[in-house]
Amino acid sequence: MAVGIFDSGLGGLTVLEAAQRRLPDVDFIYLADSEHAPYGVRTADDIYDLTCKAVQRLFDAGCDLVILACNTASAAALRRMQEGWIPEGKRVLGVFVPLIEALTERDWGDNSPPREVDVKHVALFATPATVSSRAFQRELAFRAIGVDVEAQACGGVVDAIEDGDFILAEAMARSHVDALKRKMPKPQAAILGCTHYPLMLDVFQEALGADVKVFSQANLVGESLADYLTRHGDKTGSGEPAYLTTGDPKQVSNRATQFLRRQITFTAA
Ligand code: DGL
Repeated sequence: MAVGIFDSGLGGLTVLEAAQRRLPDVDFIYLADSEHAPYGVRTADDIYDLTCKAVQRLFDAGCDLVILACNTASAAALRRMQEGWIPEGKRVLGVFVPLIEALTERDWGDNSPPREVDVKHVALFATPATVSSRAFQRELAFRAIGVDVEAQACGGVVDAIEDGDFILAEAMARSHVDALKRKMPKPQAAILGCTHYPLMLDVFQEALGADVKVFSQANLVGESLADYLTRHGDKTGSGEPAYLTTGDPKQVSNRATQFLRRQITFTAA
């Protein structure tokens, strides 16, 4: 069985890399909807339609399980997809829950009632669509009580990363941290709620200060996927990934190679 990994663009490659390290024999198919990225400034209906189309493409390519390695799609579309769109025998999982389980120090799938946790002041950095969905706060409320979340919609960071302009991405990340700190001067923890942001992890950490614990998704999702496949799936295959894009394969391959600092070759979806 192949496992699909979907993102609007290149950010999900951070999740794919971690999943490949943890599950070297699994066949992964990555799909970047580069033609329509960024999703973070689109309406929820638009994100839902685009995400269903992309996930269908991965089902058609032989994936029974698809990971939405995109917080924006997970926040704006996943619940609606799970309520009626996903065909029998297929699974679609998001990337929020592993992050919230780590923040609230829960084990995988622990569904016990919400309880008090150590962190009380949490900064959330995410795309405008993810922030306005309030999906993070909703999932957190199922697991923890008394946590104050201040969300910063980080417009422009994904565009700059997709354009390969890391100087601009860094400047924008710093200004979003400043804006957050004006609203919450002393966060104890910060969530990087967009799969593009791990590339800016050092920038976020430095701007926030060493005493702020920064939670980033890639490794957490890799771990929980390994756990999931141990329970439900098949962890064997050739380990040879395929990379698909709805954009220009040459341009996307160049950006991805720059992004991961190794040769990545995309083909047309
Ligand atoms: N990597 C996506 C996420 O995690 C980026 C969203 C976008 O395309 O704006 O939210």
